[in-house]
Amino acid sequence: MKLFSTFIALMMTFGFSSAVFANGEATYKQVCMSCHTSGVARAPKVGDKAKWAPLIKEGQAIITAHGYVGVRGMPAKGGKPDLSIEHFAQATVYMANQSGASWKDPDEKMLKAIDAEIEARKKQLAKKK
Ligand code: HEC
Repeated sequence: MKLFSTFIALMMTFGFSSAVFANGEATYKQVCMSCHTSGVARAPKVGDKAKWAPLIKEGQAIITAHGYVGVRGMPAKGGKPDLSIEHFAQATVYMANQSGASWKDPDEKMLKAIDAEIEARKKQLAKKK
């Protein structure tokens, strides 16, 4: 019985961590790839280090927030209204890391920083109208 529950616990641990690990890539493939592979509307192409370098320099919290709110040809949330900030952020990490960055999936602290940037960006956009 004890062995059995250890086995279940192990399965859950590995199943769960590999799902988390694959999240950024999965979201990218589902939602972002259609534009970010081909460079539709001048979307920064995944793997185009020259295009990504200035974005990477701007920083993870800022470009994730700006992408999530939407910027020019980039639709808010990648055009998927129910996409969470966390999933969006993971997909951004996946793309950036294919293009020269070495970012980590967002932790609590990073998600808070992204939230703050989103609020700031929304205020800025509201002023313009
Ligand atoms: C309909 C096409 C389209 C889809 C789908 C799309 N993007 Fe974009 N994305 C763009 C375009 C175009 C830009 C460039 C915007 C600009 O700077 O003019 C962009 C820019 C970005 C940026 C840089 C933002 C900045 O600060 O300049 C990030 C980050 C980003 N996208 C993330 C994502 C993620 C993550 C997804 C999927 C969840 C996604 N995009 C889906 C078109 C798209």
